[in-house]
Formats: sequence, C-alpha cells, structure tokens
Amino acid sequence: MSRFDEVVERRGTNAVKWDGLKTVFGKEDVLPMWVADMDFKAPDAVIQAVKKEAAHGIYGYTLVPDSTREAIIDWMYDRHDWTIKKEWLLFNHGVVPSIGAVIEALTEPGDAIIVQPPVYNPFFDMIEKNDRTLVHSELVLQHHRYEMNFEDIEAKIVSENAKMFVLCSPHNPGGRVWTKDELTQLAAICEKHEVYIVSDEIHSDLTRAPHKHIPIGLFSANAVTLIAPSKTFNLAGLQASALITPDKELRTKIQKVFARQGAFTLNQMGIAAMEAAYRYGHEWLDEAIDYIQENVRLVKEYIEKEIPELTVMEPEGSYLVWIDCRKLGLSDKELLALFLDEGGVALGNGAKYGPGGDGFMRINVACPRSLVADGLKRMKKAVQSLT
Ligand SMILES: Cc1ncc(COP(=O)(O)O)c(C=O)c1O
Repeated sequence: MSRFDEVVERRGTNAVKWDGLKTVFGKEDVLPMWVADMDFKAPDAVIQAVKKEAAHGIYGYTLVPDSTREAIIDWMYDRHDWTIKKEWLLFNHGVVPSIGAVIEALTEPGDAIIVQPPVYNPFFDMIEKNDRTLVHSELVLQHHRYEMNFEDIEAKIVSENAKMFVLCSPHNPGGRVWTKDELTQLAAICEKHEVYIVSDEIHSDLTRAPHKHIPIGLFSANAVTLIAPSKTFNLAGLQASALITPDKELRTKIQKVFARQGAFTLNQMGIAAMEAAYRYGHEWLDEAIDYIQENVRLVKEYIEKEIPELTVMEPEGSYLVWIDCRKLGLSDKELLALFLDEGGVALGNGAKYGPGGDGFMRINVACPRSLVADGLKRMKKAVQSLT
C-alpha cells in the first residue's frame, strides 16, 4: 500500500477540481479528472511547516528569507544540474501572473509573441489580455509525439517581428520533455533574432527517467524561467513561485512591473511550504513520480485493451495524459458531453488548448489508483454508449 492510495475527501474544501464541478460542468455527481492538481496530501514536512506558521498566530508582512532562496538553489542543482545564484531569483504568487508580468516588462503593446499549441490555454489570455499579438507555431504530431517546427518558428519570428516566445517545458498538455537538441536549437533561433524566451517549467520536477528535464536557462541568456513547487508537491492553493534570470536588466524591468502592481512579497504559508518542500521533499517526490508512472501505465494498458477507439499519448513528464479521441469522429462539445453525461467523468477538453487540440481530451492521473480505475471504467462506458 502506497501513501498515495489514500482517498482524501476533498468535497466541501473549496477545491476547484471537486467543488467547482457544478459551476464548470453543470454537474456535481461526476468524477473530476480535469484541473491539474493532485488528490495527494503534501509531504509531511510541508504540513508541519504550515502548521508551525499557523500556530504562531501572527500573520504580518513577511520576507522571503535567504534560507528559502538557498533551498531553491540546492533543489535546482540537485534535480536539474543548474547552478543558479541568489540574486537571479524573484518571487511571485503564481506562474501565470509571472508570465503576464514578464510580457508587460519586456514587450510593448501590439508586439507579437509566439506560443506552441496545443498548449496550456492561460498563455493565450496573458498575451491577448496584455494587448500583445498572439502568434501560433503549432506543434507537429509525429508517431503520437509532438515535435517543434523550427522552420515555422523562425519564419514567424521574422514575418511577425516577434519579440517573445512562451515555452512550455515540459509541455502541457502534450507531455513532451524537450531534449537538449531541441532546446539548444530553439535558444539559438531566439538569440539570433533577439527574442526573449519565457520558459514555464512548472511541470519540470515531474519528469520521469529516462527523460531528463533541461532548463533552457542553461543555454539562453535571454530566458526568464518560471518554477514553482505547486505542481510538484500539490501546493497550488498556497501560491508561491519563483522567476529565475541571470540578467540584471531584465530583473529590474520585471521588478518595476511588480512594483506597479503593488506586489512585493509572498504569502507567509507559501514561503514556509516552498522552503520545506524544496528542502525535504525529495523522497516524497520520487515516490510520487513512481506512483504516477504506474497510473499512466494503467491508463495506457486499459485503453489499449478496453477502449481501442482512443489512443494514449504517454507523457514524458507531468501527470497529465493527452488522449486522442479523433477516431470517434465527434466535435469537441460532443466529446465533452459524451464523457460527462454517458460516463460521469469530467475531463479537460482538448479544443481549449488551441489549434491541434480538437478531438483530444486531457486526463489528470495524480490521484489514488482506485480513482484512476474508476475514471477508466467511466470512459469505457461512455464510448460503449455510442454503439
Ligand atoms: C504549464 C502550466 N503553467 C502554469 C500553471 C499554473 O501556474 P500558477 O497556478 O502558478 O499560476 C499550470 C497549471 O496547470 C500549468 O499547467
């Protein structure tokens, strides 16, 4: 029995994934496999750190101490072979708000910014809501695996005069962990054309061997890397994340945006949790990765055998599984409704991730295996209802 087998009741805790079902899907009595958070309890060290803060009883303005920076520096070196310096770090409450802040800091209204759909949809919002021009360089599907289209990227940088590239590394929802060759090629193109890279590496800690996450900051001086313990240790509700860039000028520009927003520190619980997670979370994470790997294997084997109409794209990193449902010949809305109404399972709908996402569904397998098994049965029931 693994600690991750425990089914923890989350209904009634204001969990978006569970308590948001009615608002988002119009139904409460379905199994949620959509939002990207885990149904696992955080590591004990994190729970203890948060309890200690809570027990103190004074919740005033809080600094991010050097000990938190040191925990991040050690983590990045131990897990990703990247030596970073204390002064390269900035903090913000979330990765998505940081994308918005970096866009505001380093580009001008109207500037073109490239993304690679199908991709995490808040990227689109951050670009468009900041009045920049969204440019797609669609990923190419080769043998059920996404590849970057470097010719297209360079052509669009030139034709659109792009100023920024928002990279999802590892990729959500496609699950790709970009290789060193891919990242060096991308970094070289962006450097050649003086395009900033914003690299969202929030899923990086969940990469599974033999794949290896490589921070693009290793090759690119123009990159701002965004990390967080939120996906890794299931701390999204504590809202703590970091930005890494060696370039002082870029940091100063980003800090100006934070100052304009009146954002100058983090949540006290978030700081304590982040430090404890990065300092003491290695063993918990190794176990979580193995557990998720088994869940992915279960999904793959079950779908191959029981629902052959669907094709699983095995993720190289992250706990999100991208499922090709195009053989069913249904529209996006029909697919969502099929799984929801006929199966009783709420999935992430592929079309919202932009071009290339139509006909795909995303499932989150960071939950006890019994829930994954239940979700798979529901998916089978839904597909069988078509015949
Ligand atoms: C690629 C990616 N970036 C960012 C986020 C969210 O980050 P945050 O909650 O820190 O804004 C998610 C959550 O699913 C994600 O998948």
